[in-house]
Amino acid sequence: MPPVLTETHDHVGLIRINRPERLNALNSDVIRRIVEAAEAFDADPDIRVIVLTGNEKAFAAGADIQELAESDVVQQLLSDRLTLWQRFQAVKIPIIAAVSGWCLGGGNELAMACDMIIASETARFGQPEINLGIMPGAGGTQRLVRAVGKAVAMEMALNSRFLTAYEALDYHLVNRVVPVELYLEEAMNLAASIARRAPLSVRHIKEAINQAFEAPLSQGLLDERRLFYLLFATEDMREGVRAFLEKRQPRWQGR
Ligand code: CAA
Repeated sequence: MPPVLTETHDHVGLIRINRPERLNALNSDVIRRIVEAAEAFDADPDIRVIVLTGNEKAFAAGADIQELAESDVVQQLLSDRLTLWQRFQAVKIPIIAAVSGWCLGGGNELAMACDMIIASETARFGQPEINLGIMPGAGGTQRLVRAVGKAVAMEMALNSRFLTAYEALDYHLVNRVVPVELYLEEAMNLAASIARRAPLSVRHIKEAINQAFEAPLSQGLLDERRLFYLLFATEDMREGVRAFLEKRQPRWQGR
């Protein structure tokens, strides 16, 4: 079986990490396949939202430690790892992580690179790289701080504190926690609901919200306004307001 599987469900693309014997540890091949699958869905006009998941026991237990053991600084410097993560971040349609079980190290960084996280009650989030004499290298000191705040991020990265699903909810790392039998269904339902909405609005909203992490407020507000103006050039905007005034459901064209 390939280590990354894809399926489509109407307008939703599902990506499954599939290395159960290694708790879905992320080696270079797996990361490349995830990014390529996400880009392929992004380029498919029929797909409007992506769900990324693992299995009940593990979303991903981090970078592949076997691969790390064989790596050196030159290999790390020459690897295209950072570019791969940037390509994942450049995907324009929303990505929902459906997380159950271990979500550690690079796995937690991957989940945080998604736009929303639905967690099962059994999910455990952590940045345990310090136990290996390394440190987070793909957002675990940056995105984590923005999600859970400095104090908790410090404890997670410095002292390998794992968060339970409900702690992750309290600290705003995840959107909601559901029983383990339901986490994927919940994520797929959320994805399907977003996929029914005006596609160009969805893309612009994702872009504008992510801009809040990149730009100062004044620049972010300016960019938001420009994206807002642009939607006035779309047929969907005309359709949306007309449908409201005519008291009917809108029919989105993505134009
Ligand atoms: N890489 C490679 N193999 C891994 C792995 C990983 N990250 N995590 C688990 N495995 C393997 C184990 O070696 C084991 O293989 P064998 O059956 O051949 O022994 C198998 O998966 C099952 O794991 P365990 O027997 O350890 O399962 P457990 O339930 O007892 O423990 C666990 C689960 C606490 C998650 C434990 O496996 C663990 O601590 N894993 C490592 C977690 C970690 O340190 N992740 C960070 C990696 S570094 C990183 O991610 C860097 C970065 O930010 C870019």
